[in-house]
Amino acid sequence: MTVSVIIREVGLRDGLQAETQFIPTEKKLALARALTEAGVTQIEATSFVSPRAIPQLRDAAELVGLLEQSPGVTYSALVVNERGARDALAAGITELQFVVSCSETHSQKNVRMSVAQSLAEAAVIASLAQENGVTMRTALATAFGCPYEGKIVYDRIYYLIDQLLETGTKRFSLGDTAGLGNPQQVSEICQQVLKRYPNVEFSLHLHDTRGLGLACVLAGVWGGIRVIESSIGGLGGCPFIPRATGNIATEDLVFMLEEMGVRTGLDQQKLLDAALIAEEMVGRELPSRHLALARNLHCNNNEL
Ligand code: COA
Ligand code: ZN
Repeated sequence: MTVSVIIREVGLRDGLQAETQFIPTEKKLALARALTEAGVTQIEATSFVSPRAIPQLRDAAELVGLLEQSPGVTYSALVVNERGARDALAAGITELQFVVSCSETHSQKNVRMSVAQSLAEAAVIASLAQENGVTMRTALATAFGCPYEGKIVYDRIYYLIDQLLETGTKRFSLGDTAGLGNPQQVSEICQQVLKRYPNVEFSLHLHDTRGLGLACVLAGVWGGIRVIESSIGGLGGCPFIPRATGNIATEDLVFMLEEMGVRTGLDQQKLLDAALIAEEMVGRELPSRHLALARNLHCNNNEL
């Protein structure tokens, strides 16, 4: 395939949000630096949410203030309400990542708001983004299925997109928050939304809970998706999804795409270096297959 794909790295936000042991801000900065050195240009760095809900990211303002700015690199922060958006803007963020759930139950568990209340926050945040000249993206969580409510009908997704388009936001992420999607379904939804909304950017945000993450990426890319979200090392999981696991690992994703001739612009060796930093940071083995391979090679070399 002679196309290129943009990788949005979400490890620092989605990947770390469920880590119980607080990771010092300097370590998070070191990971951000390693990611930009590997060529990553879109980094979701943190979230501005209640520190009681997500204690790990309570250093959001400090982190954003310290992020090293490089040409072509965009740092975004997840926000779920007006307060978070105002705090993120005050800290100097230039992209707001809003999230709304397709499922009422997940919405209540995640942000203690109904979907309608969440949409009302989206309108306020979109105005703030416009006033401040920053971009806004919107993630549709649980788009491929909800562990509490089951399948999400297409009309639900279209309804949310239609409502959000009225606020002026034009970048969406289809989120498989609980890793319930399958490649056939991903292919169908991607093709449908791209046909229905030709001037809108859609990205895929996939969790590898059932091992279908990369297969779903392939289905999405074949379906026309050109922005994929992933976590270095396969870090992560939503704290409001039972037994949630991480996103697809960035280094595994980039390997697959590059081997297929899909360009990502990222340096695979440097991504592995970043993954090792991520693994050291959380103090346990991460699910990435390339990290496992690196560990095995290291053991074998020591034995020789
Ligand atoms: N940043 C920091 N603190 C915030 C905040 C924000 N964006 N929004 C609310 N708060 C604080 C309030 O000041 C209040 O603090 P206090 O108890 O010390 O007075 C507390 O959080 C609760 O506020 P309230 O408005 O009653 O909210 P809630 O308890 O109904 O929780 C959210 C709603 C949205 C604040 C909370 O559920 C949340 O932050 N969720 C984020 C979930 C998330 O990040 N999920 C993963 C991403 S998909
Ligand atoms: Zn996620």
